[in-house]
Amino acid sequence: HEQTYYEAVSSTQSVAHRLAQEGAVEGHLVVANEQTAGKGRLGRKWYSRAGSTISMSLILRPELPPQRTPQLTLLAAVAVVRAIKQETGIDCSIKWPNDILINGKKLVGILTEMQSEPDVVHSVIIGIGINVNQTPDEFADEIETVATSLAIEKGASIKRAPLIAAILNQFEVLYELYISSGFSAIRSLWEAHSISIGTHLYARTTKEVIYGYAQGITDEGALLLKDEAGKTHQIYSADIEI
Ligand code: BTN
Repeated sequence: HEQTYYEAVSSTQSVAHRLAQEGAVEGHLVVANEQTAGKGRLGRKWYSRAGSTISMSLILRPELPPQRTPQLTLLAAVAVVRAIKQETGIDCSIKWPNDILINGKKLVGILTEMQSEPDVVHSVIIGIGINVNQTPDEFADEIETVATSLAIEKGASIKRAPLIAAILNQFEVLYELYISSGFSAIRSLWEAHSISIGTHLYARTTKEVIYGYAQGITDEGALLLKDEAGKTHQIYSADIEI
């Protein structure tokens, strides 16, 4: 696999976009020890800390229609959960669409972006940020009550390189399964790790807040939410409160 490593970079996601445009091959990984302007979902900021976090962006070139790329985010979340279990023994869960939590606190964020035309995907960039070795006082004020790290949960520091390798291995196994057999096997694994399915929750979209029972996800990765009046909504983008 090709890799580009940075001691410090604005955002591995931005670098990966540029490398993808310049023709980087499928599987090219951009990793940084520190990001100075990490990007989160919905235009938010993502904090990374030198030495304590994993910041990486994986470039893919799948032959898929653009509307199937959200499935790759779900696949990535399953790969990260499995790698964390394998390397640390810790069980974490997925909150739709792609936050990874332990005891309700955020451990991992995933940001998927693509370069595409209406019918063709040129590249998909999967950005993964993991809180690995922060102590509680090392989180920024606005996230200290909602964030955690693997070291906090485990009570011991964790080596980052083997975890990155495990994520890539898990990703490859699932990606091959996905390319050969489609999304259904991935969907079952995702649902099995998810805390947002089979429960009542609030979905805050840009337009409205919907309360309902989360029945599952669609093939496109949308959340199926049955509201109190019995109507089922397909939610493509929202913040979830359980
Ligand atoms: C979120 O939960 O809002 C998504 C966070 C994604 C963070 C990762 S860190 C590596 C990659 N580079 C970025 O700038 N963002 C993603």
